[in-house]
Amino acid sequence: MIKACLFDLDGVIVDTARYHYIAWKKLAKELGFDFSETDNERLKGVSRMASLDILLEIGGINMTQAEKERLAHQKNEHYVSFITQMQADEVLPGAREFLKACREADIATALGSASKNAMTILDRLKLTDLFDVVVDGTHTTKAKPDPEVFLKGAEALKVNPAHCVVFEDAEAGVEAALAAGMKCVGIGHPEVLNKAHLIIDGLHQMDLQKLNNIQ
Ligand code: BG6
Ligand code: MG
Repeated sequence: MIKACLFDLDGVIVDTARYHYIAWKKLAKELGFDFSETDNERLKGVSRMASLDILLEIGGINMTQAEKERLAHQKNEHYVSFITQMQADEVLPGAREFLKACREADIATALGSASKNAMTILDRLKLTDLFDVVVDGTHTTKAKPDPEVFLKGAEALKVNPAHCVVFEDAEAGVEAALAAGMKCVGIGHPEVLNKAHLIIDGLHQMDLQKLNNIQ
């Protein structure tokens, strides 16, 4: 029996995955190499500093910690310039509706995101009240695929992980959900998300009946 749904943010609730991509691509260009959408799949769900490490590995560049911190800050400034302009229609189709349906059915809701910008996005798009609990990159020390973010969410909701379903668009996120002992719905490409229990294009394809049928 499903008692809680835990949602990743970027690429599941809001259409921000492309802003992360644009911001990293710009940084790669400034560093003198190209960064493709395929490369970007490796960054989805991964924390800011870990993403930078992957980016630098792709570019074959070594840096001091101080330089890395400066670059991560630069990427974030660029990303924040996008998200502070976001409009209500950038909430992904069906996300608001499915969150409301969960709450009306007494299924608890939590955000489980690696992002330190999660509250900026939720507040701007007036989504904050749809979550019983928010766990984001300011509350976690271990990045997905570590299950920390989802285990903290389940603990705060007081729901056993076996009764939780995670919604994720990233391979690292699906692995985190499974490592937490939770069910997982993958959102996006089946090639990337094949370990999930169910794969859909977006929350507009989700309903309570499908939720309860997840094996
Ligand atoms: C995740 C994104 O949700 O948050 C990653 O999928 C991103 O691409 C990570 O790197 C950290 O986000 P932020 O906003 O703290 O840089
Ligand atoms: Mg995501």
